[in-house]
Amino acid sequence: MSSFDVQRPIVELPDQNPDPAFSDDELVWTDAEKEQIEAWKDQYAEDQGAIMKVLWLAQEKFGYLPPEVIKFCGETLDMTFSQAYGVATFYHQYYKEEKGEFVLDVCTCFTCQVCGGYDILHYLEEKLGIHAGETTDDGMFTLQEAECLGACGSAPMMEVSNGPYVHQLTKEKVDALIDSLKDGKMPAFTSVTLPQDEDEMGGNRRTDAEQTTTYETQPRGEHME
Ligand code: FES
Repeated sequence: MSSFDVQRPIVELPDQNPDPAFSDDELVWTDAEKEQIEAWKDQYAEDQGAIMKVLWLAQEKFGYLPPEVIKFCGETLDMTFSQAYGVATFYHQYYKEEKGEFVLDVCTCFTCQVCGGYDILHYLEEKLGIHAGETTDDGMFTLQEAECLGACGSAPMMEVSNGPYVHQLTKEKVDALIDSLKDGKMPAFTSVTLPQDEDEMGGNRRTDAEQTTTYETQPRGEHME
């Protein structure tokens, strides 16, 4: 008779991990963190709405999100491990394993791909001597493929350590970026403003910039009141 027990789970289950990175004693929130989490819960119709913020808080606190930390975040909001795991694994911005000092998220989604995203990724693989998904031996760089980061207008691009975007990448820009990161200098935030009227585009763009830049979605907490 077959058993329905999970014999070899594809996903590492926190309860079956003999050697967790964090002990139960370490998996606690400080009073200040508890207060912050309560404030976040108040912003949503259901407590579970705060899971992304709680996962982010945990990542900043523990450095990354191994299964026991994901479970801890879920329990904080009365969620199952699988529910919290589903959120944590949907976004590459949540680190499920330890990363290097700098995480290079090279976008290879549609627009970046046709603009050379894979050329940039492969150039970095050769330059750093690692494949996408790996970390250099000195622990300095982790290279990752990323889904669309919402900056398709300046493709190909990458994000550095969930922070600044580096736009319109070339091999020369990559070289300069790696050199400055090795010197401990993060790239500065740069805002890329796209042409917004027909004059700038030679009469080849709609002129609804005012509408598209003033549209705002309501925070869900207010919307539900
Ligand atoms: S496809 Fe790369 S930012 Fe959108």
